Amino acid sequence: MNPPVHIELLPLGRTLEAIPGTPLSDLLFAQGVEFPCGGRGRCKGCRVRVLRGELPVTPEDERLLSAAERAAGWRLSCRARADADLTLELAQWEAAILSDDTRVEFAPRDGLGVAVDLGTTTLVAQLLDLRTGNVLAVRTALNAQAQQGADIMSRIEFALTGDGQARLQGLIRDQIGSLIGELMTSAPAGQSLQDVVVVGNTAMHHLFCGVPVAPLAHHPFEPNDDGLKVFTAAELGWAAAGVAQIHFLPCLGGFVGSDILAGIIATGMHEREQPTVLVDLGTNGEIVVGNRDRLLCASTAAGPAFEGARISMGMRAATGAISAVTLRDGRLACQVLGGGEPRGVCGSGLVDAVACGLDLEWVKPSGRLANGASLPLLAPVQLIQWDIRELQLAKGAIAAGIRLLIERWGVRPADLARVYLAGAFGNYISRASARRIGLIDFPSEQVEPAGNTALRGAKRALFGLPEPGAEFAELRRCTEHLSLKDDPQFQEVYVEEMGFPAGA
Ligand code: FES
Repeated sequence: MNPPVHIELLPLGRTLEAIPGTPLSDLLFAQGVEFPCGGRGRCKGCRVRVLRGELPVTPEDERLLSAAERAAGWRLSCRARADADLTLELAQWEAAILSDDTRVEFAPRDGLGVAVDLGTTTLVAQLLDLRTGNVLAVRTALNAQAQQGADIMSRIEFALTGDGQARLQGLIRDQIGSLIGELMTSAPAGQSLQDVVVVGNTAMHHLFCGVPVAPLAHHPFEPNDDGLKVFTAAELGWAAAGVAQIHFLPCLGGFVGSDILAGIIATGMHEREQPTVLVDLGTNGEIVVGNRDRLLCASTAAGPAFEGARISMGMRAATGAISAVTLRDGRLACQVLGGGEPRGVCGSGLVDAVACGLDLEWVKPSGRLANGASLPLLAPVQLIQWDIRELQLAKGAIAAGIRLLIERWGVRPADLARVYLAGAFGNYISRASARRIGLIDFPSEQVEPAGNTALRGAKRALFGLPEPGAEFAELRRCTEHLSLKDDPQFQEVYVEEMGFPAGA
């Protein structure tokens, strides 16, 4: 008998063992993947991207997938078999990647532009007609670097070993180049790509631009060279981008990248008199407080709990994830993405579950589970003591960062006009639950989900004059970076904020 093959599924990090020749649909169905047309090769809803290994192109792939998609490794999983070891990314798991449909203010220009939000976990790229401001096509993907670590610190560690940095650079440049190739299949005839604007956190900036990441690995975690970087498409080997220039916008300092700079521009907080707060809740919580006179920013290492990682039954917001939990007649009511059997819990479900657990007194304000064992959600999914502690570490870091930044800026929480929550998690999290666990301790009416502000800001930069990103460079000069790690009060406030608020 032939030895088994191994199929690794990203970003779950789960590896399945299978008899060679097993239909992929059998393996993936058991993981909660849906086959919208029943596996008949008619809908392309089941497509997977091959990150490692080979899947031959089938006639159905030829019919349903564009040449650029096939070249980028996309295949229909319902028509494929597991004949050899593979690493796969599933399109269905991209459903929760937040794009942006908001129209931005713009001054018309000739040609086409691409805005890219390069996240640690996900990528979103939009093709725009620079004359009309219309979005012509959108592509999303999981960051291919995730093969080498889910969070920023593990990527940096990988970059510091052997040729790690060059490999991560190659992965992300190739991936964005392929996405642009796919986008350009939707370009109107005769129109060429003028500019590409990329925003991302400081680590993504360094890994894309080829700036050594060593300074990000140790105290004071300050980058040496985080300014605006401009490349030609030829330098990056992006044939589909023609003569376009690629602009990676400048960072703000520490782990506060151009994604946050883009968020400031997208929310307009730098133009208002009354101070506002912008919070990007991710592996690294990034926070900005300020108004048109002064902006203060900081980052705080929240860890990956909000993305479902390091949680015993945690997962990304994908099919089978418990994404919302409410109380109904003293019992927990769980909502499962895709409506089938639950496979785990994602960040928004985790926050809801603990908020409900606090109301039921199943979770104590100290974080201890009242029964000392578990918080059952919907069988077989449950939270254990470790999970509650992970959430406390993450929420303590964010809440302490917000509290200190507001204090340092010199505004009372009640005097803030708005608290904007950026990014996918900020969009899906329940504001009431976030307040109940003390993560975002503001009244719901003060808090506003702001969507993908990074992408919106990148789009606005595409229209910037005299150069894409000129507004960013100017704003960067007026924004002060506060290193929370060096703040003498941070540790004390962090420990205080790790507890949950007592009930009403
Ligand atoms: S399930 Fe429809 S093409 Fe595969």
